Amino acid sequence: MRVIIEPSAEHGSQRAAAIVAQLIRKKPRAILGLATGGTPLKLYQELIRMHQSEGLDFSRITSFNLDEYVGLPPTHPQSYRHFMTENLFRHINIDIRNTHVPDGRALDYETYGSQYETMIDEAGGIDFQILGIGRDGHIAFNEPGSSLGSRTRLKTLAPETIRDNARFFGTAEDVPRLAITMGVGTILESKKCILLAFGKEKAEAIAATVEGPVTAQVTGSALQFHRDVVVILDEESASQLQRRSYYDEVEEAHRRLQSGEVK
Ligand code: PGA
Repeated sequence: MRVIIEPSAEHGSQRAAAIVAQLIRKKPRAILGLATGGTPLKLYQELIRMHQSEGLDFSRITSFNLDEYVGLPPTHPQSYRHFMTENLFRHINIDIRNTHVPDGRALDYETYGSQYETMIDEAGGIDFQILGIGRDGHIAFNEPGSSLGSRTRLKTLAPETIRDNARFFGTAEDVPRLAITMGVGTILESKKCILLAFGKEKAEAIAATVEGPVTAQVTGSALQFHRDVVVILDEESASQLQRRSYYDEVEEAHRRLQSGEVK
């Protein structure tokens, strides 16, 4: 895991956007795995800016979102399809037919989950997965106790997640209890992933994910098995890490390598 600690969420989001943009320029047909929530908003704003002022081209990009609430139609203001339309898709030149968000109104979720997995496979697999993390350490909606080999399926939201997401719905009663979500196993198959976390309320989940034992009780910790993960943090979310000085040293070594100071 490469741990990058930036001074603020703004800096962290810009760093993440630069990595995503580099991938898109290198592979214009890249398959992106996208996340919703408060965390990736600034990253999406930066990608929109890069599209509008630097011509970053999404026309051949395909995307797969991590999850969707069960029971919400795509037009519902809190559905993740609506979130993606409003916060990214309608501001860039992605072909909307190449964007995928799980269907929160599928009737047979078991079949639908395997169809979603097949669509990802047929597209060639996810090149680059963007992730946030819940306070309970979940990635996508893989709540504590989720199998670390899980695939796209239904999950019941944990009480902590319902409380956290109540801010978007007004009251906790209005938050759907079920979601359809990529599994931990699905996420582990992405070729590269970026985990973003900002703010002190994420510090404990980040310490457990990066430095704790791998456990289904903190599904983010399964990323320790991922082949290529970059964790981008701000000072607050990094505040409970024990090996901070080492991560800073690694970043300094990267900087020196890139600038040619080290042959
Ligand atoms: P947030 O959610 O970005 O709104 O904090 C993260 C998550 O629950 O995965």
